[in-house]
Amino acid sequence: MASPILVQTRDELLEALRALHAKGERLALVPTMGFLHEGHLSLIREGKKRADKVAVTIFVNPTQFGPNEDLDRYPRDLAGDLAKCGEAGAWLVYAPQSPREVYPEGFQTWVQVTELEMGLCGGKRPGHFKGVATVVAKLLGLFRPQLALFGQKDYQQLAVIRRMARDLDLGAWTEIVGMPTVRETDGLAMSSRNAYLSPEERQRALSLKAGLDAAAARYEAGERQAAALLAAARAEVERGADRIDYVELVDADSLRPVERVDGPVCLLVAAFVGKTRLIDNRVLGS
Ligand code: PAF
Repeated sequence: MASPILVQTRDELLEALRALHAKGERLALVPTMGFLHEGHLSLIREGKKRADKVAVTIFVNPTQFGPNEDLDRYPRDLAGDLAKCGEAGAWLVYAPQSPREVYPEGFQTWVQVTELEMGLCGGKRPGHFKGVATVVAKLLGLFRPQLALFGQKDYQQLAVIRRMARDLDLGAWTEIVGMPTVRETDGLAMSSRNAYLSPEERQRALSLKAGLDAAAARYEAGERQAAALLAAARAEVERGADRIDYVELVDADSLRPVERVDGPVCLLVAAFVGKTRLIDNRVLGS
């Protein structure tokens, strides 16, 4: 596969995009923070199937990290990412040379999805989804793609982005596509942050998926009470995690907590293994 075009400034990017849009080609966008894994590559491959060209963005977006989070140590590997993007068939990679390229002097406009960002990760990471929604709105406005693809591993993020695209009419031009979580062979959800785990922590990280499996088994056996499903999940997660951030059962669309499963719901887990915060989720009842 040919190497993708690498662009690092907004001006260069606009030049490439103008030529593409003038030709009337369909564009798929895959926004990422880099250190790409199979999950990201599955988004690129799906984009290839649905569009003429796929553009990938690689930007560790500072505005979605809290003051005590891992912005400085977030893993980066631009050369490796470019090779992977090439193999997966991406046309262009936009890797802004500095945050100033995205947030120029005087930047002061923010996007907030007020209700959906409140609980779960939004509750534990204040400001996180404001940073995500703002940067994704900017990317959709800049690229004007026919579709943009995101992983369902970040379930709340996907819900926030769908709502934002609908509310700001960015979704009038761009279909937001959610793709299934890609897992390692032993079931661990793929994440760039898995790179932080020691071999011993990597083993214990399986407790998140074990928690989801335990609750799903109870659900399959007929249990519909949230308290029982959550207790089953929690018991498994506690076996491996050092600290649980949350285990919650919410309506699959509104993300409001439910007491009983009467329609589609999502069970979400966030937990620390060592210093690494991991998340995972499972939809039940769809
Ligand atoms: O999921 C991610 O990697 C990021 O949150 C995103 C969507 C690229 C925005 O920075």
